[in-house]
Amino acid sequence: MQIKLSYQPTSSPAALIVPVAQQADLGAVLQPIAAKAKVPADLIQSDFKAASKEIHTLYFNEDGQPKRIFLLGLGESPRTIDVLNAFRSFIFKRKATLPADLGISFLHQNAPENPAPWVEASVNGLLLGGYDIGLYKTTKKPEDAAPDFNTEIYVAESHAAEAEAALMRGQAFAATHTQVFDLVNAPANKKTPQVLADWAVKSGQQHGYSVEIFDEQKIHELGLHALISVNRGSENPPTFIVMEYKPKDGKVLQKIGLVGKGVTFDTGGLSIKPSTNMHYMKSDMGGAAAVFGTVEMAAKLQLPFHVIGVVPATENSVDAKSTKPGDVIGSYQGKTIEVIDTDAEGRLILADGLTYIVRRFEPDVLIDLATLTGSCIRTLGTYAGGLFSNNDELVAKLEKSCTQTGERLWRFPIWDEYKKELKSDVADLKNFSGSPSAGAITAAKFLEEFIEKHPAWAHMDIAGVAVSDSEFSSQKSATGFGIRLLIDYLQNLASEAKA
Ligand code: BES
Ligand code: MN
Ligand code: ZN
Repeated sequence: MQIKLSYQPTSSPAALIVPVAQQADLGAVLQPIAAKAKVPADLIQSDFKAASKEIHTLYFNEDGQPKRIFLLGLGESPRTIDVLNAFRSFIFKRKATLPADLGISFLHQNAPENPAPWVEASVNGLLLGGYDIGLYKTTKKPEDAAPDFNTEIYVAESHAAEAEAALMRGQAFAATHTQVFDLVNAPANKKTPQVLADWAVKSGQQHGYSVEIFDEQKIHELGLHALISVNRGSENPPTFIVMEYKPKDGKVLQKIGLVGKGVTFDTGGLSIKPSTNMHYMKSDMGGAAAVFGTVEMAAKLQLPFHVIGVVPATENSVDAKSTKPGDVIGSYQGKTIEVIDTDAEGRLILADGLTYIVRRFEPDVLIDLATLTGSCIRTLGTYAGGLFSNNDELVAKLEKSCTQTGERLWRFPIWDEYKKELKSDVADLKNFSGSPSAGAITAAKFLEEFIEKHPAWAHMDIAGVAVSDSEFSSQKSATGFGIRLLIDYLQNLASEAKA
């Protein structure tokens, strides 16, 4: 797909998309568009309310050529996520019937003064709208093919530089999101821990950052005992993935440590899950995917941070060799753990990942992402992830990025009272309280035992948001949750440092 900016449109495209926010003086916004199409503005206004994702089509002739204008509703006070989703939805629905030449206009009255954030979001949405989820289909319908439009985006010349940078970012995000979607949507038989490792290595080669893969033998040598215990029931060996990005110009503001849960399939182990919806457990590596995407994007954008991504990867399967409920295992940190429930496996592999990243890299900020608990889904549904942190300043910054990107997190307490639920009679602690209450919080308290008292730690429980129901698939599918959020957080940190 060709996308470029245009400052003085000479001819108009066969189809022009005009994104419109819902506001009081919609009439004034529609006036020039109505004049161009030679239709009465008040008639358009009576049909088109600029509600989110609303599409209104105008047909007309211009210099003997048939033309279309699509008014694309963005809803009230649209955030960038609303712009992204409106464009994604529009392309997804219309890709089969759109002409090859597309225009997007940010020159109309209610486009923002600086259109750069909308340019980025619209480009990201435009490209994701063509995302084809049918990875393994042997025959494709023509409408499934990735659309190939010639797209011009009209913006005012006064913001040319910002808009050019935004166009690049939108393309970069969409490419990374597409790769990450493919990974999360892939079934477990096509997505072993080695496949995750290969993904990281390839991304590192393409985008200029280093990746180390620890194989089973190295994992034993290092003593990543909690990861080993989760892997026992699987015929696919575990991998431990360490990605490290540093900017080419050497200017590093902070060291950021990211850990992602890479469970390629979670059967629950011997504490086996019910079969209904078990197939969704192929996406139990959504945290890993967010870490992959964030490191890749940081490298593409050459952000001024040393970003370390650690992904412990394994399947959680059933076998005669599987860890059994009640077994006592070790950990990289040294603490012993009584495994009450083998389905609480995410916290086990994260424990090793967290201690490892802190001891080896001593990051300034430590963030983990994991599809960790059903408890978090029961509490927040699919509208927000859970946020757990020991640092108010970090929370404030993350919350700001949540608002900006629409990737929402809601903070839970991690008071020490919850810790006693993890007391074990026989080991240093147990992996599950045994009680159905406060499950997301006790999981976070478990992780806290392995961060080596790191002062700026945040845990994101993304079980409800890593995949979601949407118009883009009949079953839940990948969202890429966390990537735009973390990149926004890093970009804000960088611009604060500049100011
Ligand atoms: N991967 C699951 C959490 C999950 C559930 C993610 C549903 C997405 C959708 C996790 O490993 C798990 O099984 N958690 C258990 C923990 C419990 C046994 C303490 C849960 O939440 O039920
Ligand atoms: Mn589980
Ligand atoms: Zn899991």
